Formats: sequence, structure tokens, C-alpha cells
Amino acid sequence: MAASIQKVLNKLSLGENVEAPNEADVKALRLSFETVGQGHVLSFWNDLSDSEKTSFFAQLSKFEPERIAKLSTEALNPPPPAETPVYEPLPESATASILDSPDSSIKAWYDLGLELIAKNEVAVVLMAGGQGTRLGSSAPKGCFDVGLPSKKSLFQLQAERINKVQSLAAKKVAKSNVVVPWYIMTSGPTRGPTQAFFEENNYFGLKKENVVFFEQGVLPCISNDGKILLESKSKVAVAPDGNGGIYRALTEQVIPDMKKRGIKHVHAYCVDNSLVKVADPVFIGFSASKDVDLATKVVRKRNATESVGLILLKNGKPDVVEYSEIDSDTAEAKDEKNKDILKFRAANIVNHYYTVRFLETIPDWVDSLPHHVAKKKIPFCDTETGERHKPEKPNGIKLEQFVFDIFPRIPLEKFACMEVKREDEFSPLKNARGTGEDDPDTSKRDVMDQGKRWAVAAGATFVSEDPAAGVEVSPLLSYGGEGLEFLVGREIVGPAAIEKTE
Ligand code: UTP
Repeated sequence: MAASIQKVLNKLSLGENVEAPNEADVKALRLSFETVGQGHVLSFWNDLSDSEKTSFFAQLSKFEPERIAKLSTEALNPPPPAETPVYEPLPESATASILDSPDSSIKAWYDLGLELIAKNEVAVVLMAGGQGTRLGSSAPKGCFDVGLPSKKSLFQLQAERINKVQSLAAKKVAKSNVVVPWYIMTSGPTRGPTQAFFEENNYFGLKKENVVFFEQGVLPCISNDGKILLESKSKVAVAPDGNGGIYRALTEQVIPDMKKRGIKHVHAYCVDNSLVKVADPVFIGFSASKDVDLATKVVRKRNATESVGLILLKNGKPDVVEYSEIDSDTAEAKDEKNKDILKFRAANIVNHYYTVRFLETIPDWVDSLPHHVAKKKIPFCDTETGERHKPEKPNGIKLEQFVFDIFPRIPLEKFACMEVKREDEFSPLKNARGTGEDDPDTSKRDVMDQGKRWAVAAGATFVSEDPAAGVEVSPLLSYGGEGLEFLVGREIVGPAAIEKTE
């Protein structure tokens, strides 16, 4: 890499302003793109204003043209499929289920998890860099209000769960300064609005210094014939590098802070699950007691045709297989010990446990994780005419890494999987209101149904003219249904909201 480009990169990494490039810098940059057949990105250089030149030069300097060219060639020319893989469920030694574990085991995991939280050894990492195109909201998904009586956003629900788990842990060991730091991964498009939302809402009661934002990378969008697409004459069209971008970003921006704080256990999850149990003590305790490097949570697949990814063994290694990759016989196969349930039923909900010890090895393997192709309609600027187009059908690809592509590299004895109750832990928000599936209404319903179950279990009676009405229980009041004894004998008229009062 030319020394002048390296200088620009150093300045960018220090957050410094980059001055207008001189001719030698531009020549070196042009050459680096031409060498890999991507010289067209600078087609309009001579038409640009000085400020456009400066910002475009800065953007181009962040890319490694050789790497981009290699990634797109590999993605557009995948190797022929290998022989039919052999699938097996994970062995019993690597799994546990909340659905049929004895209460004593669940309590032991919960107690251990809370102790680790109380020792300030647990952090949470949120993946919130997606663009949420299906939901169709202009704000980041975490800012979305699914329509609960309280109007709380997903970010607020999650922040309050962290707040509550901190106080449960503090109470357990009679200590006051329990902190679960929250590392929030954003991307170019979501960082500004996400940070502004936290500022406006006073970090939802958490301490600002314990909410750390970091940014995943972006990659250029590529045309179907392997050319980098321009968004305008002075900007490359880019997209976040997938939820697997978490690994590179963690190494560069987060692990040093975790080490400084003495963090040993990490819970990572996706922003778009309204029921997510953030820093779940049971999951942390289960994973830590098994001394694994990586653990996952799954829910039971509803039926053979549900379109969910499955966690299983593929050719003897832990992996995730998409529903479209398995044949119907495999999908319909029944469990050998219990013919009422599916053999392959571990539906992936992207809730992971990692040890920091394992995350420290990221630099050893991150560059070898594959990039996947997502075919998309990508608005672009024609490099011949300079005209901008909004295509009607997919005209190119986005390159994405997947967070689970590391699974097959984990030795089986260092990998575990915990099955949890779907109605308590998983309600994804993917689609716009009105679709009836994984949309704001189903998210709201699932939160309200859970609150109603908790209230009734605590001894309340629930009455409502609306059979679908439920109860919203503030996470500040109860993390997982505990602490609601004051509801004994009370009548709740639904729909209702129970907030914490001082
Ligand atoms: P999805 O794959 O469902 O994508 O992300 P999305 O952006 O939320 O929605 P669509 O597909 O555009 O409609 C699952 C989780 O992974 C995160 C998302 O923020 C979400 O929590 N994610 C996705 C990232 O953090 N970075 C990415 O590059 C992609």
C-alpha cells in the first residue's frame, strides 16, 4: 500500500480530518483500484469539487481494493457444492433444555450466573447494525415502539432488563456497584440516530460510561459482473458487512475495554427480539458451568415446515443450516426417543454466550470466515453516463459475514446449546405492521401475554372484555416473573400496564 494512503488511514483511525489529496496520493489510489480491474470508481474524479474529492478520497482509502476484488470474485464464483452433508442433532452432552431440566439445575445455573454478574465479569453485546429494510422504519430498529401501553422502544426494554439484572445481582451479594456493560454495535447508517436516541432518553437510566457504541465495517456493493457500484459520482455504494462483522469490530474496538473491566463472559444478541433476556443469568450460569467457549440458545422448531435456521452437527461439527438447505425427510424426521417431537428442532435465535478468552483469538481466524452473497436492488450511478438509477430487480450483491460461521471451528467439547421456551424468550420483529408474522403486533402481543402469565402465576386474577388483551410488566419491576408477590389476590383489568413506582 502506498505510504500516502497509509497516512490517510492512520489519520482516519485517530478521527482526524483528512486534507485534500495531492496528485501523488490520487495517482497511488487510482493505481491500487486499476490493478484489480476497478479503476472505474474514479471515472468522475475530474468533475468533483474539492470537498467531494476530499470525502471520496477518504472513503476509498478505507477499502483494500485487493481484498474487495478477491471477496467479490469468490462470492460470485462459489465452489461447486460438496457431497451431501451428514446431519445429526447435537449430542446430549452438549445440550440442555429449560423445558425438561429439573428446577434444581435451573436454579443452580441462575445462582451461578447472578454471582458472575455480581462479580462484574459479565457484559452484553448487542448487534444493531442492520438496516431493517423489511420493517420499513426510517429510524434504527431498536428505536421502534411496537405499541405497548408504555410506548417503550426495544432499546428501552433491553436497557431496563440490564438495569434489573444488575440490581438482582447486587441484592444477591449485598453489593451496590454491579455493572453489566452494554456494547452496542451499530453501522454507518445506524450509528448517529442510535447514539442520539440514547442521549435524548438519558441512557434509559443506565450510566453513560457503561453503554459503549462501536461500529461494524461496511463493504462496497458489487454489480452482478463483479464491479464496485457507485452511489453517486463521489461515493461508493456500501452496505454493512453482516452480523458476522461483529468479530472484526469487537477486536478493534471492544476487547481492550472488556479486559480493562475484567469481563470474562459475554452475552451477544440481536436487537429485534422483544422478549430477549439480556444477560440472562440462567444462560450465563449454564454456559460457564460447562466451561465452553461458545454457547447458543435455541427454541423448539414449531413444525417441519417452519422456515428457521437449525443448530445441529454438520459432518460432525456444530453448524447452522438454513431451512432451505435440508430435504423434507430430514426436516420431518422424528426424535428417536420421543416420536412426538422433531429430530432436528433446535431453531436458531441468535443468542450467544462467548468467553472473552475465546474472543481474544478472533485475529487468528477472522480473515478466513466466508462472505455470503445477498442479491439486492442497489441504486447506482452509471459510470458511463453519470446517471443515477433505481433498479426494479436485483442488479448486484451485498457481501455479508454471518455470526455463526465460526461454529464449525469450535471443538464440540467447547460448544453447548440451551433450549428455552419460545413464549418467554423469542418474538422477532422483522416485518411491517399488518403482515401478521414477526411484526409489531406480534411483538406487542407476546410481551403482553408474558406479563399476563406472570401476573396470574403471582396470584392475580385477570379480567378483560378483550380475550387478546394482556399485561405489560415493566422490566424494572420483574426480569423473569419474580418479585410480583404484591399482586396476590388483586384483580387486573386488561389491557393493563404495571410500572415500577418509587
Ligand atoms: P437481519 O438479518 O434480520 O437484518 O438482522 P435487519 O437489518 O434487521 O433487517 P432486514 O433484513 O434489512 O429487513 C438480524 C440482526 O442482525 C443485526 C440486525 O441489527 C439484527 O439485530 N445485523 C444485521 C447487524 O448488526 N449487522 C448487519 O450487517 C446485519
